[in-house]
Amino acid sequence: MSLPAPLPSLLAAVTTPALVYDDARLRANAERIQSLGQRYGFTPLLAMKASYAGLGVLSDVPGLMPEVGSIGELRLAQTLFPGVPAHGFFVAIAEEEWEEIAQGVGHLSFNSLRQAAQFGPRAAAAGLAAAIRVNPLVQVSSHSDYDAGAKGCRFGVPLAELPPKLPDFIVGLHAHVLCENGAADLAQVVDVLLREGGLWLSQVQYLNLGGGHLMTAEDYEDECLGKVIADLKQAHPHLELFLEPGAAWFWESAQLVTTVRDIVRPSGIATAIIDCSFRAHLNDFLIGSLLADLPLTITGATYVSPADYAQLTDADRGRTYRIGGLSCATCDSKEYYQFAQPLQVGDHLVMENMGHYVDVTYSWFNGLPPPSIYRLTNTATLERDHPYHEFLQINLPFHRR
Ligand SMILES: Cc1ncc(COP(=O)(O)O)c(C=O)c1O
Repeated sequence: MSLPAPLPSLLAAVTTPALVYDDARLRANAERIQSLGQRYGFTPLLAMKASYAGLGVLSDVPGLMPEVGSIGELRLAQTLFPGVPAHGFFVAIAEEEWEEIAQGVGHLSFNSLRQAAQFGPRAAAAGLAAAIRVNPLVQVSSHSDYDAGAKGCRFGVPLAELPPKLPDFIVGLHAHVLCENGAADLAQVVDVLLREGGLWLSQVQYLNLGGGHLMTAEDYEDECLGKVIADLKQAHPHLELFLEPGAAWFWESAQLVTTVRDIVRPSGIATAIIDCSFRAHLNDFLIGSLLADLPLTITGATYVSPADYAQLTDADRGRTYRIGGLSCATCDSKEYYQFAQPLQVGDHLVMENMGHYVDVTYSWFNGLPPPSIYRLTNTATLERDHPYHEFLQINLPFHRR
């Protein structure tokens, strides 16, 4: 899928730090996911946790069904998708949450047999289609931190631990072990489900294959997805299929625009300090830097590993930078990025593919305002920002309000 790159002059006009969402790319992603669902015969759900900022555009797209993971997301879904019953997966439901959940969702996956026993009979009485989450113990996740298929992961019941006969109130199975994966990885999961899970698949009406399907990436294998779904339907024609990608809806949909505030050179290591923080605003990428498995793409720059940095000539070092965040955390930096020219204070530094799991995870750590949200059409429109009173609201005790 190729769309024209946003005009740099539009990006240059925003107040930084800013997450700039490309309206056209969000709509193109949605169209693609929905058309794959129609072509191959599954219902795509929108896992809301991946981005709330991008929902400003996606909530206008007809036919989207939200998947929620908390009461907060359920309420947001009811505001943005009024009248559409959500699909829910809650890690653990509290008794006092039950009534609200039961009224808001149409489908609900339980994470444990204990929670299923507690709420399942009431779910059935309320007309909900309840499922149990299973762990097929297939490890194909692209990031070790997000591997829900690992043995002992707290999510889902290993197939071998399911009772041979599921309770009557369970009418679905739910399996989520992918993260930014392709269809060949899904094929491995489905293969195990078919070989080891047939006993239970024949007892339920639907199968939810979770999220992590990177259907909007350039190299996603459509035909492989088609074959996986066809194999499933052949083995269990009675099953209704749901897939609940999150990141895929927002893939390549936003750029994070920051400004270089200072350039420091402690012990000769050129460091561009930007008006944003990895620790406060891009925490995933910080974990990724420790585990070295989450890439960060900066426009016009190439990544240089610490080993390669040590070998650089003085001239190349002059245009190669550690990127430093604004917070007081010592670890708040990413090494190293080489630019065509040396950076100057005031330059914009733009990070790519920031539409998913950025706006939903950032914090006010160190009092640093998170990036504002812009929507890019033929102009860049401010959709929301994080003014100081938000920080005050979060942090003031009741007696000082
Ligand atoms: C149960 C469930 N469904 C869907 C998703 C969305 O996954 P992704 O954003 O990787 O597509 C997640 C992500 O954590 C999840 O836990």
